[in-house]
Amino acid sequence: MPSVLILNGPNLNLLGQRQPEVYGATTLADIEQMCTAHAQRIGLDLEFMQSNHEGVMLDAIHAAKGKYGGLVINAGAYTHTSIALMDAVASVELPMVEVHLSNIHAREPFRHVSYLSKVAVGQICGFGAQGYVMALDALAQRLID
Ligand code: DQA
Repeated sequence: MPSVLILNGPNLNLLGQRQPEVYGATTLADIEQMCTAHAQRIGLDLEFMQSNHEGVMLDAIHAAKGKYGGLVINAGAYTHTSIALMDAVASVELPMVEVHLSNIHAREPFRHVSYLSKVAVGQICGFGAQGYVMALDALAQRLID
């Protein structure tokens, strides 16, 4: 069964309490549950993680090579700043779908730039927690035949 890593970046551990008017009331644990149930339905093995540390995220991406068939990444604010995360994804050559709960293109101009989108298969944003489920479907299309 193909396996996928969902990697969440800084401040996403605070979902549910953090700016609910922007990010909704769903917690990261709720999202993990939704994703685990969906992955089972569509035949993907899933691992889900979150870190507030760029280096930990880099290590997780490096370790993903040979272990997972694809990645889903919500890098939080590192999306807009981290050339290192972009380089890590390019280095491991795994299909990666970028997710954001909010529509980053409808927000402040500094959020319109995503380094990660340069190495992503595609970007899903603005659909809240459902975006993660959509990302799993997108990866399953590529990984399951
Ligand atoms: C986010 C959007 C980012 O701009 C922000 O820094 C986040 C969350 C989202 O999921 O909408 O932390 O990635």
